[in-house]
Amino acid sequence: MRAYELIHRKRDGGALTAAELEALIRGYTAGEIPDYQLAAFCMAVYFRGMDAAESLALTEAMLRSGDVLDLSALPGAKIDKHSTGGVGDKVSLPLAALAAACGVRVPMVSGRGLGHTGGTLDKLEAIPGFRVDLPVGRFIELVGSVGACLMGQTDRIAPADKRLYALRDVTATVESIPLIAASIMSKKLAEGIDGLVLDVKVGRGAFMKTLPEAQALARALIGVGRGAGKRVTALLTAMDQPLGLSIGNALEVVESIELLRGGGPADLREVTVALTAEMLLLARLAPGLAAARRQVEAAIADGRGLAKWRQIIEAQGGDPRVVEDTGRLPRASTLLELPSPTAGVVEALDGEALGLAAMALGAGRARVEDRIDPAVGLVLHRKVGDRVERGEPLLTVHRNAGGEPQPRLEARLVAAYTIGPGPVVPAPLIIERLADPS
Ligand code: URA
Repeated sequence: MRAYELIHRKRDGGALTAAELEALIRGYTAGEIPDYQLAAFCMAVYFRGMDAAESLALTEAMLRSGDVLDLSALPGAKIDKHSTGGVGDKVSLPLAALAAACGVRVPMVSGRGLGHTGGTLDKLEAIPGFRVDLPVGRFIELVGSVGACLMGQTDRIAPADKRLYALRDVTATVESIPLIAASIMSKKLAEGIDGLVLDVKVGRGAFMKTLPEAQALARALIGVGRGAGKRVTALLTAMDQPLGLSIGNALEVVESIELLRGGGPADLREVTVALTAEMLLLARLAPGLAAARRQVEAAIADGRGLAKWRQIIEAQGGDPRVVEDTGRLPRASTLLELPSPTAGVVEALDGEALGLAAMALGAGRARVEDRIDPAVGLVLHRKVGDRVERGEPLLTVHRNAGGEPQPRLEARLVAAYTIGPGPVVPAPLIIERLADPS
């Protein structure tokens, strides 16, 4: 097999066989096929796409470049959730606790934030002592004994994706649906799961800006997952404005705890309950969606979710007392309220701009090697549809020394709000459900 012939065929719109894709990925991982040939291949896929069989074969080849966790010794269904990422999306934290409290086994391998969206690992590390770099054996043990464990990607999970993603990043080939699907699903399938719930975000703060793009990605992810014999459901959820009110690592941990205490913002709760209920359904722990939702709501109301979150934190070396006393989490030295320059109704809120502003404060990374400040971020007081009077606070900035100079940041934050005469009815949060028929 010559890489040249495969690139040539894909460039001209032909299909590659599973064996050819396996050889390509294997040769690349072994250093026998150079970056420039894989870059050309990725560009050919970008323009020509892949059919369902090729997508699955590429995913499986990338999966086989590393290890697949063996969770078969653990009883019960092992189900994870993956979100395509959005601003203020802290759902994984309360969801892992609630799903585990309801009997699902949750082996969650998460990533770090880059650009305007945050990462679950960074949020978890805002909890003093919390360890995400567990040995695989301990991870499996905790999924068995606690019910959920959240850790970072190891070098042995889909290593081909790590190299390929870095290559795509510098060759303008990230935005290819078959390449995204193979990248996401190779990592998720390596967790040894039985099923997966996908939260595909749509809107100006998301990776997929339009509904047709998000639908196409959801279908591709489902196709690969089902092709690999897994139960998969996808929810398409709105990401035009941030989810919840907090953006920033420790602040998002606080909001997750508030949710598990029975409070928290309604939008965060709606998405968290909906996704967790889908996990219960895939785990066959509920006869239908309505019953699954009731079980999740009950785990919030009777405190089982919160108790499970305490247990997860303690098992992973974190300070479990943050659950009762969120004052133990890192706190910023300066709080600054930003007043509204005008009276009216919030007609739009630019989530991406807020995410980038939080990143400039130190809550996120512009480059992989940047350090995170867990304490800083934003707490919103007004979201789309809310009325505000002139001079009333739109949001509070939690900052430490460093970060972007204040006047420039303030101007960016105020500009993220579009305030007009209204009224505005916020669009539905859960746009579409693509469920597994089995
Ligand atoms: N997230 C991933 O993990 N991979 C992609 O290709 C895009 C988003």
